[in-house]
Amino acid sequence: MWLLWAFGAILFSFQQAFAGTGPVIVVKPEEVNNQTSATLSCNFTNPASPITGHHWEKNGKVIETTKKDGADRYIEYTVSKIETNSGKYSCVFHSEPNAKGFIEVKGLIHVVAHKRSENANENDKAVLVCDCHSYPPATDWSWYKVTELGLQDVNGTERYSIKSTPNSSSLIIMDLNNEDAGDYECSGSNELGQATDTIHLRVRSRLAALWPFLGIVAEVIVLVTIIFIYEKRRKPDEINDDDDSGSAPLKSNSATNHKDKNVRQRNSN
Ligand SMILES: *[C@@H]1O[C@H](CO)[C@@H](O)[C@H](O)[C@H]1NC(C)=O
Ligand SMILES: *[C@@H]1O[C@H](CO)[C@@H](O)[C@H](O)[C@H]1NC(C)=O
Ligand SMILES: *[C@@H]1O[C@H](CO)[C@@H](O)[C@H](O)[C@H]1NC(C)=O
Ligand SMILES: *[C@@H]1O[C@H](CO)[C@@H](O)[C@H](O)[C@H]1NC(C)=O
Repeated sequence: MWLLWAFGAILFSFQQAFAGTGPVIVVKPEEVNNQTSATLSCNFTNPASPITGHHWEKNGKVIETTKKDGADRYIEYTVSKIETNSGKYSCVFHSEPNAKGFIEVKGLIHVVAHKRSENANENDKAVLVCDCHSYPPATDWSWYKVTELGLQDVNGTERYSIKSTPNSSSLIIMDLNNEDAGDYECSGSNELGQATDTIHLRVRSRLAALWPFLGIVAEVIVLVTIIFIYEKRRKPDEINDDDDSGSAPLKSNSATNHKDKNVRQRNSN
């Protein structure tokens, strides 16, 4: 018992010593919840080695515009439009080693369709994707088909499957048919609420894939028909020419020709 008390006292004094003299980053606020914008700050006291600069990170990625040189120990960063910029933020002081402070910026959930519309062929499969980059991320996802009767839950239907991670969800529709075309709604939710977005699916009929080929076939048929009709028309015309207008003037022509010949012959004589 006494030993335990002594141990506790030693631990306590160690803690006091560190709190008093060690390097400490005080972050303010410690957490941002359900706000539209916020100014984050870090105050670095008792750095162990000189500070040469600082920057801020979001989800472990450097925010390039915040990189600064200098020995500042107090820095701020304003997050606007938290609905689309929620995440795990940290301030980083450049020293040996780098020192970091962490602030969680929680916002309302924000769900966005990866693509507003998707095209797929009949009998193929379609993959519709929605993303969520909010913090906290989505804990639940669901998908609905928008019909005249309202939203229809697609979960539990044979041809549909749903694959979800906190950052995204995919609805896979197998063996597409014409009735699958239309609007689909994805819905993601977290502890702070729920958000949705809509994707339009177009289904091309199998014939559509054949259209270029059918076009060529149609072209050939038209060409052949035109040639055929032209040939068929030309033959009777030629016969007619010979019979009606052709033969009679031909005779007269030949007669006059003969005359001309005679004339010419006479002239030459
Ligand atoms: C930073 O912390 C130090 C020590 O706790 C304090 O004296 C100072 O006023 C703080 N600076 C700001 C800008 O809050
Ligand atoms: C889908 O339905 C199955 C059972 O049919 C259920 O276990 C699962 O939780 C449901 N998923 C969603 C996202 O609603
Ligand atoms: C989700 O996104 C966050 C932040 O963009 C990232 O840190 C995390 O690794 C992602 N998780 C998955 C499962 O992709
Ligand atoms: C978030 O704030 C809005 C008003 O700004 C309020 O109506 C809503 O209830 C809050 N939600 C949570 C989960 O605190």
